[in-house]
Amino acid sequence: MKPRHMKHLSTLGGHRQLRVLRLDASASPDDSASRKLGDAMIARLRRAVPVELRQRDLNADARFIDAGWIEANFTPYGERSAAQSECLRFSDTLIDELHWANHILLTTPMYNFSIPATLKSWIDLVCRPGVTFSYDEDGPMGLLAYKSAEILVTTGGIALGSEADFVSDYLKQVFSFIGIDDIDLIGADCMHVDAEESLARALARIELDEMENILPEVA
Ligand SMILES: Cc1cc2nc3c(=O)[nH]c(=O)nc-3n(C[C@H](O)[C@H](O)[C@H](O)COP(=O)(O)O)c2cc1C
Repeated sequence: MKPRHMKHLSTLGGHRQLRVLRLDASASPDDSASRKLGDAMIARLRRAVPVELRQRDLNADARFIDAGWIEANFTPYGERSAAQSECLRFSDTLIDELHWANHILLTTPMYNFSIPATLKSWIDLVCRPGVTFSYDEDGPMGLLAYKSAEILVTTGGIALGSEADFVSDYLKQVFSFIGIDDIDLIGADCMHVDAEESLARALARIELDEMENILPEVA
């Protein structure tokens, strides 16, 4: 049986060019396991399809929402003051990056059973009613369409999928909430137990994607 991400990556064949937005959440700029997985995934994608890449290190410019931001966000578009529009500018930029991309590559470690605060701050800035999601009588609806996401997660001692994993389902929920439900997650978990083996397993999953079925479709 094919791994689920093979099917997932094969769907990328519909794109003539991949516009990849890469987001890195690890606070460690060097020797980061999750960034290593991200590098391998970019190399893997580049071998299969033309890739245009934009990158954002979520630690480089982390900003957190505050009362002024919330008020600006809930003020209708045409009624915002210049100061309120300015307050939302960074969030607009992050959302523009999502609109530009057709594939999101997120790398993140687990911090204290969950995600790094910088990644949470990015999520708070991009989940905006009327912009990336809306509600109708059937409930919430994501407004970002035709995009896929690859989430690469590393952990020290907690197994992904275990009861203490508050990363995997949470991130899938957030992406699908804003309309990105073609999501795959690859983990190198329990790195503190056997880092080499765990990384090797995740890298093998990344390398497994032969993508023969993509190549003929790319111009
Ligand atoms: C502040 C901090 C909190 C962490 N919390 C957890 C945790 O709750 N569970 C876990 O399994 N590993 C935890 N770890 C270990 C990291 O998830 C693990 O070392 C991961 O591979 C780091 O990825 P990176 O090298 O890309 O930063 C934590 C590491 C740090 C620095």
